[in-house]
Amino acid sequence: MNARPPENVIRLELLSLPANVGVARNAVATFASQADFTLADIDEIRLAVSEAVTNAVVHAYPGRTGWVRVTARLSEGQLQVEVEDEGIGIADVPRARQAAYTTDPERMGLGFSFMEAFMDHVEVGPGASGGTRVVMSRRFAPLPAKEGPAPGQGG
Ligand SMILES: Nc1ncnc2c1ncn2[C@@H]1O[C@H](COP(=O)(O)OP(=O)(O)O)[C@@H](O)[C@H]1O
Ligand SMILES: [Mg+2]
Repeated sequence: MNARPPENVIRLELLSLPANVGVARNAVATFASQADFTLADIDEIRLAVSEAVTNAVVHAYPGRTGWVRVTARLSEGQLQVEVEDEGIGIADVPRARQAAYTTDPERMGLGFSFMEAFMDHVEVGPGASGGTRVVMSRRFAPLPAKEGPAPGQGG
């Protein structure tokens, strides 16, 4: 088998309250610190997580609170962070991802732009039980070279 298990995973479940944005941001930053990221990298990861969790807090559950699940995974040279809610979802994801697009005139509409700027890869789609799921990843180690057959094992 080539598939290696994840090196480490944390999963947090938070109520969609503003006070919990900092909790999620700090937990993921502390978790990511065990990998080979610089302090500047960690600050960028912190901002990206903050934007994704803020979106779940602010947009997912209008007029109520709900659960936000944050999963962070260190595996195969990268950090992956998943932020999932069970809220109203996003009808038009490409439009929502456009810079300066917002459904709330009090906001700037730059959350997804920040996530894209600070992470290598950002995916946005429906969650497992409705709502929205954002998956972001950032590498801390170069991709491993393709392994050839081990010496003496033939090919
Ligand atoms: N978790 C979410 N649930 C529902 N709608 C969301 C969610 N995240 C983002 N959105 C929608 O995408 C839009 C753009 O998000 P973003 O770029 O972070 O800008 P802002 O939060 O400033 O509006 C939001 O205005 C909102 O309509
Ligand atoms: Mg936002």
